Amino acid sequence: MTEVEIIQRLQAIKANALALYSNFHVSAIVETDDGKFYEGFNIESSSYGLTICAERVAIFKALSEGEREFSRVYVMSDGDMPCPPCGACRQVLMDYAPNAEIVMFSEDGEKKAAPLKSLLPYAFDDSKLRK
Ligand code: THU
Repeated sequence: MTEVEIIQRLQAIKANALALYSNFHVSAIVETDDGKFYEGFNIESSSYGLTICAERVAIFKALSEGEREFSRVYVMSDGDMPCPPCGACRQVLMDYAPNAEIVMFSEDGEKKAAPLKSLLPYAFDDSKLRK
């Protein structure tokens, strides 16, 4: 997909987000190293803490389909600022997509991009387990 197509997909997905309580709609697309795309939006629960962010929905869909190598994660939210992934999503993305670039968009397509590793310095990861 071209960047314009990515922005259009993110806008379309975002419109379907199940943001029943916050009314803050987020969409995400993860891109695999071999050019496949998996999409997600935030899904909120009436027990608010059980809500899951768009980024984790998208990467869990990809992982559950057997994907393991990711090059990019695109995120868009409501509002005029490019949407940065929350801390919990940064951790999960670091576990499964450490080399990904995070491409963040406002609802109108204003863009910021940064490597995930720069967004989560000195990260906890499985290299710290059992040492
Ligand atoms: N949200 C995401 O989907 N991704 C983020 O990175 C930030 C927050 C969602 C969670 C919740 O449904 C709503 O935005 C407000 O926090």
